[in-house]
Amino acid sequence: MNQPNLIILVLFYSRHGATRKLAELIAQGVESVPGCDARLRTVPAVSTVAEATEADVPAEGAPYVELDDLKDCAGLAVGSPTRFGNMAAAMKYFWDGTAAEWLAGTLAGKPACVFTSTGSLHGGQESTLLSMMIPLFHHGLMVMGLPYTNAELMTTSSGGTPYGASHWSGLDGKKTITEDEKRLALAQGRRLAETAMKLRAAT
Ligand SMILES: Cc1cc2nc3c(=O)[nH]c(=O)nc-3n(C[C@H](O)[C@H](O)[C@H](O)COP(=O)(O)O)c2cc1C
Repeated sequence: MNQPNLIILVLFYSRHGATRKLAELIAQGVESVPGCDARLRTVPAVSTVAEATEADVPAEGAPYVELDDLKDCAGLAVGSPTRFGNMAAAMKYFWDGTAAEWLAGTLAGKPACVFTSTGSLHGGQESTLLSMMIPLFHHGLMVMGLPYTNAELMTTSSGGTPYGASHWSGLDGKKTITEDEKRLALAQGRRLAETAMKLRAAT
């Protein structure tokens, strides 16, 4: 019997588009695996002005994530730009609203990975990736990195780490994604989707 395609949620925040480009490559990697569909979703910005609220639907690009997306997915990739070496508040704010899903174990046992973008080369890619993993561990996700069998990890002179895909966007945010960064993002999406497929086959 034909099984329905697995949904892999690619959840990201991106203010200026660099992290979004990585998210799109990861989604492309996911969809290179037969039987897997990528679902691109973003989170609203947060404001220091308490009265400010976001519109219901983003004007363009990926829709805002809904809590049901966490239920629906068989795997999860989470991306955020570096903000002072950590994930952006918007992404942290989203996780802070997922207590019910944590209690219910909605994400427990699903594979996950993380990705990021920074303005400076040594401005905190690894610390951001590691800090983004923390809520994922609490949710019981099985967090995966990138193995050194991806040769680009040895050759990259920009982004790309064993903790997850990354991009060095430059101080003006205008650096294009390098070939190594691209290959690693695609590989990460593919690896996540293949793992979700293997887990389904094993149950
Ligand atoms: C408040 C703030 C803090 C930032 N902190 C860092 C940082 O610690 N290290 C760094 O390299 N870049 C930092 N940046 C730059 C962004 O991480 C970088 O421009 C990123 O590529 C933007 O991604 P986006 O295009 O997806 O929004 C910061 C930017 C802002 C606005």
